[in-house]
Amino acid sequence: MSKLCVRSFAISVDGYGAGPGQDLQNPLGVRGTEIMEWFFETRAWRKMHGQEGGETGVDNTIAEQAFEGIGAWILGRNMFGPVRGPWPDESWRGWWGDEPPYHTPVFVLTHYPRAPLRMAGGTEFRFVTGGPVDALEQARAAAGGCDVRLGGGVASIRQYLEAGLVDELHLAMRPVLLGSGEHLLHDLDLRSRGYECTKSVAGERATHLFLRRRR
Ligand SMILES: NC(=O)c1ccc[n+]([C@@H]2O[C@H](COP(=O)([O-])OP(=O)(O)OC[C@H]3O[C@@H](n4cnc5c(N)ncnc54)[C@H](OP(=O)(O)O)[C@@H]3O)[C@@H](O)[C@H]2O)c1
Repeated sequence: MSKLCVRSFAISVDGYGAGPGQDLQNPLGVRGTEIMEWFFETRAWRKMHGQEGGETGVDNTIAEQAFEGIGAWILGRNMFGPVRGPWPDESWRGWWGDEPPYHTPVFVLTHYPRAPLRMAGGTEFRFVTGGPVDALEQARAAAGGCDVRLGGGVASIRQYLEAGLVDELHLAMRPVLLGSGEHLLHDLDLRSRGYECTKSVAGERATHLFLRRRR
């Protein structure tokens, strides 16, 4: 069966996956970009944004591998955007412009129904109100045997971890302290859920930690 993978999820040393107070000006929350600084210099990031160049070291290799073999994505509604509550209209189409970097079906967890949104380049946002298991079943069915990548944010990843549904988890830990924000693992006992840390790789700007759930 296809795996559910979290890849290239950035965290601070003190465990935050986003800063506080996300809004239009701060998609990653206040100071949240500090944890993504390992990614911004890579060729992978530049390619995602239609640009040439970028670094090709360890961080880049890992970031590029994170896009391989993925047939569908799952995102939380806050990762999709800053709009909260019932959708006021259809105008919010994600942070990523007309051609988002997913190029697959993307299942967005939300309590508020919305019609699917087809974007350029093969991305289609489909809004799922049936909860995480329903979203995972739909994503697996759409992934055509490939893996499903759970992009975030924090609340969504925590739910899948709590349920033991994440098969592989790659965290890119930046040597910064955020102090507040969305904490990824607070009060979450991964060990008792069968997870183990299998590898640690030092990149140029982040330490890459690879965890997986024993089957
Ligand atoms: N560190 C990284 O690498 C990384 C990666 C991705 C995102 N992020 C950041 O993470 C932050 C977002 O994380 P977050 O924890 O605030 O939120 P999130 O996980 O992106 O989304 C949470 C929202 O998704 C919907 N949702 C979640 N579970 C649901 C369920 N069981 N049933 C129905 N709807 C459900 C709810 O939205 P509604 O009830 O409003 O519909 C909920 O408020 C952003 O700042 C983003 O930039 C960081």
